[in-house]
Amino acid sequence: MSAEKQPVGVIGVGWVGLVTAACFAELGHPVTARDILPEKVESLSRGETTIHEPGLDELLARNAERLTFTTDMEELLDAARLLFVCVDTPPTVSGDADLSRVRSVVEELRADGDHALVMKSTVPAGTGNSIRRDMPGLSYVSCPEFLKEGTAVKDFMNPDRVVIGADPGEEGAADAVAALYEPLGGEIVRTDVASAEMIKLASNAFLATKISFINEIANVCEEVDADVGEVARGMGLDERIGPKFLKAGVGWGGSCFGKDTIALKKLAGNSGYHFQLLSAVIDVNELQKRRVVQKLKRYLGSLAGSKVALLGLAFKPDTDDMRDAASLVLAARLEGEGAKVAAYDPIAAERARGLMPTVELATSALEALDGADAAVLVTEWPEFAELDWSEAASQMARPLLIDGRNFLDARSLMAAGFEYEGIGVPTAVRQEA
Ligand code: UDX
Repeated sequence: MSAEKQPVGVIGVGWVGLVTAACFAELGHPVTARDILPEKVESLSRGETTIHEPGLDELLARNAERLTFTTDMEELLDAARLLFVCVDTPPTVSGDADLSRVRSVVEELRADGDHALVMKSTVPAGTGNSIRRDMPGLSYVSCPEFLKEGTAVKDFMNPDRVVIGADPGEEGAADAVAALYEPLGGEIVRTDVASAEMIKLASNAFLATKISFINEIANVCEEVDADVGEVARGMGLDERIGPKFLKAGVGWGGSCFGKDTIALKKLAGNSGYHFQLLSAVIDVNELQKRRVVQKLKRYLGSLAGSKVALLGLAFKPDTDDMRDAASLVLAARLEGEGAKVAAYDPIAAERARGLMPTVELATSALEALDGADAAVLVTEWPEFAELDWSEAASQMARPLLIDGRNFLDARSLMAAGFEYEGIGVPTAVRQEA
């Protein structure tokens, strides 16, 4: 018989917490997961999730007997010594990370020398040290998450690296966390708490920088008739640069990049350091979404009274997450210019409804495109590649498409009768201003 697996506690069953709980259960650990929302705990206990994450429902169903969901912190503390804190840390009005949820969790824990807090929530560097000062009897390990929405289960099970930060005297807790991740085979980076916290913030800031960089290159490519896809391919073969996160488009979004880049900028600013590069990265991303409106105006002149269709609303495919989605800024800007906006997304429409109440939410791409003067592809959902674009062209008032993700085949679109323009690609049929 195999050795008994270490019980795991998870505090905060949002997206990170639920994926973490399900994956540790899949690895054979008994998992107790606690959330303060009784409705959430009840529905998870019934086996129902509200999160769209490929593979997650199967893991939860397969490991149901190893998973306990509860609102009761005492039940969790009795069940597990390693407590993974996965509560959210949204930005405050000042842009700093809001640590109030983290703080209220810490107040409920027992500083009995028996439990270890394993911080998965993204917190400013220095948080670990301040919690340790306040709760000397509680071991503290920083173990940031690097999961991507849409591939979170796969990312958890096949990590590039697992970062485990602990300070002197707390190696025992860090060893226990490392043992949980060892079967997954990724490189385990053992370091101090403050460095672990910085690794998380710096990684997200660097990825956001990479995207803003290629978006600026795309904008220059448009001026010199170069193709950003070719430029990225040629750059990416340099091992020092690498091919990933060099896809130009309408900018990054999601729950992490916006929040974490601002949090890092503020963290630096709070100690008197002006992180200039990061300020530019954030500005470029804001402008990148707005450039699409300028592109449309080059074709249509004033947008007042026109109908523009948005294809895709989620911040990226394979998720219904609308946080910081480019579609939100685009819809608002287009409406600000007097356009009527219709939109279609295979799964995010429900979440989008309250966020863009004046946008007409269609139940198919063709319905959104019907009578439109232009379309913008915002999210690269695979079904858009399969769409009958000839039929789409015949239904639109003007078959004009701005491909915000350089996702579709320009030549096929033009053969179907479209005026087509991507981001930083010379196939654009651009009208000079
Ligand atoms: C990100 C980090 O990748 C992950 O490590 C961290 O834990 C959470 O934040 P996620 O927000 O799920 O993950 O999305 P990601 O796949 O990184 O994409 C973020 C945004 O960048 C999306 O809007 C995507 O469309 C955009 N993007 C990504 C580009 O515009 N170009 C690229 O080359 C890559």
